[in-house]
Amino acid sequence: MKLNIVCIPGDGIGPEIVAQARAVLDRTAELYGHEMTYKEVLLGGASIDVHGVPLTEEAIADAKAADAVLMGSIGGDTTKSPWYKLPPDKRPEAGLLRIRKALGLFANLRPAVLYEELADACPLRQEIRQGGFDMLIMRELTGGLYFGERKTYTENGMRHAVDTLTYSEEEIRRIAVKGFEIARKRKKKVTSVDKANVLDSSRLWRAIVEEVAVEYPDVALSHMLVDNCAMQLVKDPAQFDVILTENMFGDILSDEASMVTGSIGMLASASLNDTKFGLYEPSHGSAPDIAGADAANPIATILSASMMLRYSFDLDREADAVDRAVKAVLQEGWRTADIMSPGCRQVGCREMGRLIVEHLEGGEQR
Ligand code: IPM
Ligand code: MG
Repeated sequence: MKLNIVCIPGDGIGPEIVAQARAVLDRTAELYGHEMTYKEVLLGGASIDVHGVPLTEEAIADAKAADAVLMGSIGGDTTKSPWYKLPPDKRPEAGLLRIRKALGLFANLRPAVLYEELADACPLRQEIRQGGFDMLIMRELTGGLYFGERKTYTENGMRHAVDTLTYSEEEIRRIAVKGFEIARKRKKKVTSVDKANVLDSSRLWRAIVEEVAVEYPDVALSHMLVDNCAMQLVKDPAQFDVILTENMFGDILSDEASMVTGSIGMLASASLNDTKFGLYEPSHGSAPDIAGADAANPIATILSASMMLRYSFDLDREADAVDRAVKAVLQEGWRTADIMSPGCRQVGCREMGRLIVEHLEGGEQR
């Protein structure tokens, strides 16, 4: 199979982790007889430094022409980097929001899994984490507060700011459908998260999710208020399978969910539209404090590449091989600094990537 991939290394640790994910993809292609071509595209601070804007029209066109996009991370230290002296719509994050919108990537899948091998890194008490947990946050990504009208103005000498939270029923329906579809392939459980005791947008959300649920009688649906969900994630994370929620709630809850796994450096994500196209990136940020130090954990990006093989290219066998290689390396006790625990062997970003490449097995060896 010929795979045309746009690579966005981005900022901070982005270039280091993407290089390792590419090495894993290259070896997988070699073992399974595929041909990968990459085109590098600038986004975020890296684009600001070269073009003066966080995302160019050419970059969008390149991404649209590809089969999928593999991204590292964008952004810098908001208190120190000159990028944050620019107006808000010229900062690194604006580029990310724009590419999500331009590519119509309304469905953001963020799995949060407790890896058996890393259970010691989980900050939850043993009796809460025992038995493990495996949830997926289905976050709406191109609507809500992130894309509503906003302004800052002064009235009678007093400064005001407004952000608008809007959802149409169509926007809610299409993400709900994605949530129920993926639940069908998992434990058939959807928890829809909203703030329907206060917000109109949440009351519409709940009504539309109920309508969609009628088409999925085999999937159990429950509703949960977002503040309660924040609590339940640390109290009893095993109760969740698919969490279906709007953009802002999903942003916050996905950070919390990844933290309770104890290993945010392990968590992948996929942003999808209605076709097979997707943008794949780790759930973590650009960690500017360790950029260039060969200390980053490349596993989240490698697992994002595996999600790309699975969701955009239907290459399940290849994706399974990548996932197995990651597990094998962890089982042998290799760790990057973020997931290090006593008795394990610490390695840098490059060495972790090399070990995973080395553990990849071709189809015939299985
Ligand atoms: C994320 C990030 C982004 C978001 C930022 C960088 C704009 O936090 O992908 O979760 O808020 O969506
Ligand atoms: Mg976030």
